[in-house]
Amino acid sequence: MSVHQDRLAGLIRRERDAYAARHPASARAFEQAGGHLLGGVPMTWMRMWPGGFPLYLATASGARLTDLDGNEYADFCLGDTAAMAGHSPGPVVGAVARRYGELGGATTMLPTTDAAWVAAELTRRFGVTQWSFTLSATDANRWALRIARQLTGRPRIAVFSYCYHGSVDESFIVATPDGPRSRPGNTGAPVDPTVTTRVAEFNDVESLERELAAGDVAALLMEPALTNIGIVLPEPGYLAAVRDLTRAHGTLLINDETHTFSAGPGGCTLAWGLQPDMVTIGKSIGGGIPCGAYGLSAGLADAILADRSADIVDVGGIGGTLAGNALSVAAMRATLGQVLTDEAFAAMIGLANRFTAGVREAIGRHRLPWHVVQLGARAEYRFCPEPPRSGGESDAAADPALEEYLHLYLANRGVLITPFHNMALMCPATTPADVDAHTAAFAAAAAELADAELADPELADPGLRRVP
Ligand SMILES: Cc1ncc(COP(=O)(O)O)c(C=O)c1O
Repeated sequence: MSVHQDRLAGLIRRERDAYAARHPASARAFEQAGGHLLGGVPMTWMRMWPGGFPLYLATASGARLTDLDGNEYADFCLGDTAAMAGHSPGPVVGAVARRYGELGGATTMLPTTDAAWVAAELTRRFGVTQWSFTLSATDANRWALRIARQLTGRPRIAVFSYCYHGSVDESFIVATPDGPRSRPGNTGAPVDPTVTTRVAEFNDVESLERELAAGDVAALLMEPALTNIGIVLPEPGYLAAVRDLTRAHGTLLINDETHTFSAGPGGCTLAWGLQPDMVTIGKSIGGGIPCGAYGLSAGLADAILADRSADIVDVGGIGGTLAGNALSVAAMRATLGQVLTDEAFAAMIGLANRFTAGVREAIGRHRLPWHVVQLGARAEYRFCPEPPRSGGESDAAADPALEEYLHLYLANRGVLITPFHNMALMCPATTPADVDAHTAAFAAAAAELADAELADPELADPGLRRVP
């Protein structure tokens, strides 16, 4: 380890110690969780927080949350987008209390009138006209893929390397110089994804054309901008080329807007005038109550309803007992109707502009070889000078040491960002003061890292080599 890496390791140790000192109650809760929780946490990715143990939640409201030790945070993680409406927004609290408490009947197998309102609103926002509900974005993707395979009669799907669409079996595949491979860590895969899936690099028209040319791809499942391997924006003209190619090869195009919803009230689909055949979404549209949805064009809807070999009502592989339940549909109606409104998006995007400008200024002032990218109400900084163009490039730009340092530094100063990478999301309750609190903490960390010795161009951690 060079003296410079040693200095960075020292800073991380300092922040780990501060984290432990600031959060004794969370540390105790984690220790005591012990025996019967797999990995010691309710869901194994909760171990992804840096510092050796997760913060334990006490309360959350709007853009703020408090932990068991009474520390308060400006929350830009927002449940990795599931809380994009803010924590427990008033209209959703009211709608859920009314459905569950007053009217009763969270889940009865009977429809409520909220569902048609939500479907019409999703149509207004995303363009495709026929909607059905799920309990997660994962299921929305799974069911959309089944419909696509059924209607095209084609066996495979296509995705982009390093995509994430939830725990969809077919999607755990990466492109490598030696060809497609199951993604490292793919746990107990039912089928090798190289059998079910073709994989292309984002922003690479030729690689997609090559994969679609085989004529066996039912659907391309994509985020219009990658958001799960850092944010990777499409280059000018790329999405139009994707649409042309999918049409030319008879492949359906599915936009997964679960994260890219941050681009505006109708996600990237509306903001960029895209024309997918299907749209999937989940996480945020229920204000934190489990939900998801997939929408399809009228032509596809007619075709699947008329297909006598497709059972989409019983045991044909599409459906869930609680999908479309009255509670989750009431929550979606309140969230879309009163919280994540067009006006709310305008304000959230304004705050993300402020966030991005603050980060950009600090990076420039300290001449760090980093950049920041914005996607509507969301922003993310990365430890490389130029935005990666693809999932593969973005994966190669990861710097776990810097990430741990920065996440701990921010958490110790009352700011949370998404644990998996450096993503920050604004919600309707986020304030300019929250944004400025992040900017101040980020700038202080950048100043510490730009310290002459740490940023020595010859010897520093690659993510710290100062821009001349
Ligand atoms: C783009 C995208 N689609 C789908 C999902 C799956 O969401 P869920 O885990 O809520 O099913 C995620 C989760 O991060 C996602 O980022």
